[in-house]
Amino acid sequence: MGRNILITGGAGYVGSVVTGALLSRGYNIVVVDNLSFGGEGLLGVWHHPNFKFVKGDLTDKTTIPSLFNDNQFDGVVHLAAIVGDPACAKQPDLARKINLEASTHLLEEAIKRKTPRFIFASTCSNYGKMADPNGYVDENSPLAPVSLYAELKVKFESVFLKEIKKDEQFSPTALRFATVYGLSPRMRFDLTVNEFTKEFALGRKLEVFGEKFWRPYCHVYDFGRAIDLVLNADAKKVAYNVFNVGDTSENYQKQMIVDEIKKLIPILQVHYVSRNDDPRDYRVSFEKIKKELGFQISRRLPDGIREVKNLIDQKILLNPDDAKYKNS
Ligand SMILES: NC(=O)c1ccc[n+]([C@@H]2O[C@H](COP(=O)([O-])OP(=O)(O)OC[C@H]3O[C@@H](n4cnc5c(N)ncnc54)[C@H](O)[C@@H]3O)[C@@H](O)[C@H]2O)c1
Repeated sequence: MGRNILITGGAGYVGSVVTGALLSRGYNIVVVDNLSFGGEGLLGVWHHPNFKFVKGDLTDKTTIPSLFNDNQFDGVVHLAAIVGDPACAKQPDLARKINLEASTHLLEEAIKRKTPRFIFASTCSNYGKMADPNGYVDENSPLAPVSLYAELKVKFESVFLKEIKKDEQFSPTALRFATVYGLSPRMRFDLTVNEFTKEFALGRKLEVFGEKFWRPYCHVYDFGRAIDLVLNADAKKVAYNVFNVGDTSENYQKQMIVDEIKKLIPILQVHYVSRNDDPRDYRVSFEKIKKELGFQISRRLPDGIREVKNLIDQKILLNPDDAKYKNS
């Protein structure tokens, strides 16, 4: 019998990939989602015998208790959120309600119902700007969020890593994911790699701001592999712990991303708009998850570029400019 896992936000860009990956690895999956961007991302798994969907809003006080009344979960993978700096800036009250208040309610319910595992999708944006421009930040570096989005991620991490009383039966883990890219059944084109590749593949000119600033990137498929690894890891290694998810060799400046795209789309028009300062400039070390859990990525940035280029070239999406492929 597979383990029962609740995935919140399972209809989203990351969630629909993670749901498919965990189903194929033998888990029983319950997805809860309020379908802010629709539910098409789940149609590919809809008939899977081990898949169940609950339409629900986590900010509705009855949704979370009823999920736990109806199911005995072995783990929670918490992805539901208002995602990204622009979306949180546009809806700050809703962001606080979902990303912090409802998240805390979910955590408390998971503890009360003796759910052994809890994985929270956090982000490397928690690090903000690097103090040493030539160095790398790691899990012990100071957190310096520069947006409401990252501030709420830092606050919720602190709730389960520092503020709640530790319980030996409970194993919460924060995964600070790199910026994601790649194909998903719920596609997003407001993510740097996906957006740049799409625009260039459509023959458009692109303005690139702050081309020298560093960020780490990770394929969405590897998010699912990391979550599976943590669900299966010895609780002692992951309980009340934090891991960056990505690979140290996958830190790129935006200009380097453009250069990678140029290898596949030689004639592209780009206008760089330099900036002297960007609060989100960080290079991240991913050595901890490699050493302690043996995590290795399976795809690199050029793989993602190729995927997105093929998607556009073959016109798989009728209108890739549709607003539904963006979070704000
Ligand atoms: N995209 C990235 O680069 C990245 C990087 C690091 C971490 N993350 C984290 O991964 C998670 C998923 O991100 P994504 O890119 O899939 O975003 P997404 O917007 O595609 O998915 C979020 C999902 O949550 C659902 N949701 C939102 N509010 C809800 C509520 N109140 N009740 C129920 N469901 C609700 C939405 O309907 C959506 O399906 C987020 O927590 C995000 O912060 C993303």
